[in-house]
Amino acid sequence: MFKSLRTRLILVYSLIIFMTILAVDFLILSDYFRSRLQERTIAYFTYGNIAANIASTNLSDTFYITRTLEQYTETTGARFLFIDSRSVVVSDGANRYTGETLTNPQVREALSGSNSWAVYGNGTRNLQLAVPVTSGDRDSLQINGAILISAGLEDLYQAYYALRWRVVLISLIAGLSGIFFSLVAAYRLSSPLNKLIAFSDRLSRGNLGEEVNIKRTDEIGQLADTINTMSAELHRIETNRRRFIGDVSHELKTPLASIKALTEALMMGHTPPKQQREFLGDVVNEVDRLSTLISRLLTLTRLEEETLNREYFKISDIIKNTVRVMTPLAASHDVKVTNEVRMDIKVLCDKNLVREMLVNLLDNSIKYRDKTKAENRIELKDYLTNSKYRLEVSDNGIGIAAQDLPRIFEGLFRSEPSRSKEIEGYGMGLAIVKRITSLHGWDISVDSQPGKGTTMIVTIPL
Ligand SMILES: Nc1ncnc2c1ncn2[C@@H]1O[C@H](COP(=O)(O)OP(=O)(O)O)[C@@H](O)[C@H]1O
Ligand SMILES: [Mg+2]
Repeated sequence: MFKSLRTRLILVYSLIIFMTILAVDFLILSDYFRSRLQERTIAYFTYGNIAANIASTNLSDTFYITRTLEQYTETTGARFLFIDSRSVVVSDGANRYTGETLTNPQVREALSGSNSWAVYGNGTRNLQLAVPVTSGDRDSLQINGAILISAGLEDLYQAYYALRWRVVLISLIAGLSGIFFSLVAAYRLSSPLNKLIAFSDRLSRGNLGEEVNIKRTDEIGQLADTINTMSAELHRIETNRRRFIGDVSHELKTPLASIKALTEALMMGHTPPKQQREFLGDVVNEVDRLSTLISRLLTLTRLEEETLNREYFKISDIIKNTVRVMTPLAASHDVKVTNEVRMDIKVLCDKNLVREMLVNLLDNSIKYRDKTKAENRIELKDYLTNSKYRLEVSDNGIGIAAQDLPRIFEGLFRSEPSRSKEIEGYGMGLAIVKRITSLHGWDISVDSQPGKGTTMIVTIPL
């Protein structure tokens, strides 16, 4: 039950809300009561001091003191008593305890010279204050008795209880609306997540290329965008894989079909001996084609990161060597290769794979030369920008049509079937090149115009 994000969020939110409200309530209520009681006490002490003054200046006039205390009792609602130094009540503003002996801690303290106060009782609470009645100056201070004030606190408690109810009510409303908003917030957070979970589930079942519709700009929105991109990318990869398998099957079937036709013709026995040799030669050619194609396919599938044998090599050395190896082939087709690579840079790479990559690029530039041009050229150049090394292999060959550009790296793609027939190839070279670059974490791109030429650009981050 506490496993879902939503429940957890709601619990945490509610806990925070209630703790805060509880703390605030406690502070408000206790502070309110304390300050009101303090106000009260100060006010009564003021009265008490005045009464003590009157008592000390009219000590012999008990009647006057009693009248004054009666007046005070009437106006303030609290009882004012004058108690002599032997704790006997001399005057009682309410005229009840006169003549009796009263000892409580407040009286005792007042008779020993200091003010004191305390709250008594449980049901009807009572505030008791006592002030000493003194005469003489500081050096010969004489305590003649005490003024005791006894005041009911019922009104203060009533006000306190009323406030407490109001605070509880407001807190309840605030708490409930807080929980409501946290519910909304938790829902707003968890529902798109649940949507994403359901969507990922669909993806994992193979519903590639679908899109989840979450319009948000926050992290969840970003996550949705990423998952959508992933879905599209998986879809693209899956489609490519299917087409690739289709293409492979087709490529394998064509030579097999012609082998079958040739051998069937031979089996019939009507073929003259001279033609028999010719047919068998064709069969051998087809078998060669098949085995080359299969070994290229194997090269492509075997190219995995684990098999990479990486070391730091001076890239210009690898280029120089490969160009030397390829120059005779180029020369035999009247193609001139110029190596203008200058940068003295060491790159972490698999030397053999880099060589294979260059061989494929140069081979293409030679194969797809433009025979209508007076001179066919291949140029290799390198650049260093923004901590990136860039190698360009450009030719002035026949170029690639714009609509074919996105497909040339996909494998088994060859532009224009008619042309593909006359030029040997399987459309695997650039797929291998692409794999080699991506295994190294490099990038390859192409810039080409039909009739003008092609530039292959390999970018290596340093
Ligand atoms: N330098 C180039 N000039 C013109 N076309 C090229 C060049 N390099 C590659 N291509 C095109 O890209 C396709 C794929 O190349 P690649 O994978 O090497 O296959 P292949 O060399 O077997 O044809 C080629 O069939 C060709 O149409
Ligand atoms: Mg090729």
